[in-house]
Order: sequence, then structure tokens, then C-alpha cells
Amino acid sequence: MRKRVLLIISGGIAAYRSLELIRRLRERGLSVRCILTKSGSNFVTPLSLSALSEDRVYSDLFSLTDEAEMGHIQLSRDADLLIVVPATANILAKMAAGISDDLATTALLATDKPVMVVPSMNVRMWEHAATQANLQTLVARGVVPVGPVEGAMACGEFGAGRMSEVPEILEAVDAFFAEKANELPLLGRRVLVTSGPTHEEIDPVRFIANRSSGKQGHAVAQALAALGADTTLISGPVSLPDPEGLRTVHVQTALEMLLACKTQLPVDVAVCAAAVADWRIAETSVQKIKKSSDQPPSLNLTENPDILATLAQRTGNKRPGLVVGFAAETENVIENAVKKRDEKGCDWILANDVSPSSGTFGGDENSLHLAHGEGVESWERMTKTDAAQKLARRVCDFFEAA
Ligand code: CTP
Repeated sequence: MRKRVLLIISGGIAAYRSLELIRRLRERGLSVRCILTKSGSNFVTPLSLSALSEDRVYSDLFSLTDEAEMGHIQLSRDADLLIVVPATANILAKMAAGISDDLATTALLATDKPVMVVPSMNVRMWEHAATQANLQTLVARGVVPVGPVEGAMACGEFGAGRMSEVPEILEAVDAFFAEKANELPLLGRRVLVTSGPTHEEIDPVRFIANRSSGKQGHAVAQALAALGADTTLISGPVSLPDPEGLRTVHVQTALEMLLACKTQLPVDVAVCAAAVADWRIAETSVQKIKKSSDQPPSLNLTENPDILATLAQRTGNKRPGLVVGFAAETENVIENAVKKRDEKGCDWILANDVSPSSGTFGGDENSLHLAHGEGVESWERMTKTDAAQKLARRVCDFFEAA
């Protein structure tokens, strides 16, 4: 469970202390990635940052390779915490105004993750009404300042504006993660959730589908993300909007869904809530199939891979620590679900009655039975959102007990 820090190093004389900070953060088991501003590169080199972080250093907003390998949006969201160190008066002003004229400020504007700033500047610049107003604006938006402290400055003056020492920054980082661990018990866990139906093409205009709305799967992804999990939702065609605070990958077919799942591995948790089509057309027609006067066309079906079973049967670190499936049943709900759990090799299975009279497909409520190694628990009927939150809590308990 490696927490990830994105360090943004701007151009101040105290930038050299970011090197020591990287070492200390990594000693704590955190992974560190760096963005270096142009002026920051006058004080520390990309090479030393890269050697210490054991990662490449990002600096160019319009670099094709940066964008191809990792867009600035992803860069800013792939971290659990962003730290601007040193934070110059200039970068604080840009952050307050929402200016994004380089990679560092763009990442800061695009992020939905917590931001810490470690100011460092001349005492007059620090005390200037503009800087103080900018800081107030940032604090009101939830940015956490660390320091500055009073002391002798590189410019020869004395006063507030000196950057906090590394141990003080580490203390703030530790306090931040301790608080988050309470609020966000799944912080640092990677999760994948499949949701919705799959569409299996017959010809360019027709496909096989099912009635899954994606409501339950989307709610599960959202509930896990809300507890801090780094969540990827792999969704078949649904009419729901992409949930906030997580990544959504859109797929059409079962084969695409399987590939998208494999790309996410390794993960800590996989929840397969998608109603994957069991069969696809063996050979899809390139042209629209025309009506002919004699026989209607016969559709030759071939079985789709079972995504849940594939994930559950992987070995080593490619097998998620917890694999959860759903069992859509219209009769003998619990009995069939227990059998499905054994057959597919998943850890938990949530069984639900999807017979038309239950109103589950497309509806907002669900009656679930959780089958695990120790037996079956029947949950009362509740909204899909509540069921998702209950499942997410059970996932936390699983990792706490592990
Ligand atoms: N599942 C999957 N890939 C498939 C079929 C199903 O990942 N090709 C997953 C579903 O996401 C769900 C679980 O397997 O978590 C059970 O799905 P369900 O449709 O209830 O069962 P099937 O395996 O399709 O069996 P059957 O249709 O015979 O009941």
C-alpha cells in the first residue's frame, strides 16, 4: 500500500532541501514523483531529483513524450498528496489566481488531490499584503501551509519567510497521512470495478445486449473511491455519467472489458459487477445482414471469457487480494450464488434476484446476499448506493483484519 507524493519544486534558494526531503519520504515507504519548474532547475538538476526519486522528472507541459506517457491531468491525480516545496511568492500567486502557464501550475490547477505548500521567500515578500492575501485564499480552499519560520535568509536579511526544515515538513506529511488513514481507510489501495452490460456486435448496426443499467457497479466504484481507493471503473455502454473522483474506462464488448481489466493489474480489489454477455457472435458480419425471402439468418454464438474467473484464477501479485463477484439469479438465488463462488474461485459473491418482479435490473434498490468463505449473510433491501457503501465498509474490514 504505497502512498504517492507529487513534489513540485519551484525556483527558490531552498530548493536544494527538496533532495533531502525526497530521501526521507522514500525512507518512509512513500513513492515520490517530481515536477521541476524552469526556475527550479536553476537550483537543482533533474538528474539528482531523478536519481533520488528513482523516477523520471517531469518539467515540460508540451513535451510529446510526457503527454504520451502521462498527461498532466493524470500526473496531478495519480498522487495522494501534492507538496509545493519550496513554494515561492510567485507560484503561490499563480495558484491563488488559477494561472496555469507551465506543467507545475497546470498540475496544481487540474488536481483533485490535497495540496501542501512550503513557502520560502524574502521576509518583505512574505509580509507583503499580496502574498498574505494569496495564502489566505489558498488556505480557504483547503491548501495546507507548512511554515515558513523566522531566521537568517540567503539574501542577508532576517525574519519570517525562511523555509521549514525537512523534519518539520515530514511531521506535517505524517500528520496528514495519519488523519487521512482515519477518514480514508482505503487510501493507497488500487481497485477495479466492472459495471454495466456489454454489447456484442452482430453486424454494423445490431448487437446483443442485456438490461443492466450499471447503477450498482457505478455506485460500488464511487463508494470505494470515497473511502480513498485509487479506483478504475471499467464500464460497458450505460446512460449514467462518469462518476467523479475516479477513472472511467469505456468499453463495448466482453473482450474489450477483459483487456481493460488486465491492463489495470495488479490491484488490491476487483469487483465484477458487470453483466457481461455470456456469448458473442462467432463471426460478425462486416455488412448489415439483409432480410432474405427464405430463412431468417442463424446466429452462431461462441462463449465469452469469464472475466471474474480469469481475475480470480490469476496467480501471484496478479491475483487481486480480494475478488468480488455478483450473481444475477432468477431462481434458487443463494444456492446458485454459493455454487458460482466455488466455480469461479472468487472470495465473495453478492447474489441478487434479477427476476422481472424484483425490479432490480434498472431499479434503484437491491436485495443482496453476501456469500463468503464462512457462510451467507442476507442484507435487508436497500438502495444500490447504500448497498455499495456497505460493501465498501466490508472491504475496509477485510484489509483491517488481514
Ligand atoms: N462475469 C464475468 N464475465 C463473464 C460472465 C460473468 O466477469 N463472461 C461475472 C459477472 O460480472 C458477475 C459474475 O461473473 O460478477 C456472475 O455473473 P452472472 O451473469 O450471474 O453469471 P454467469 O457466469 O454469466 O452464469 P449464468 O449466466 O449461467 O448464471
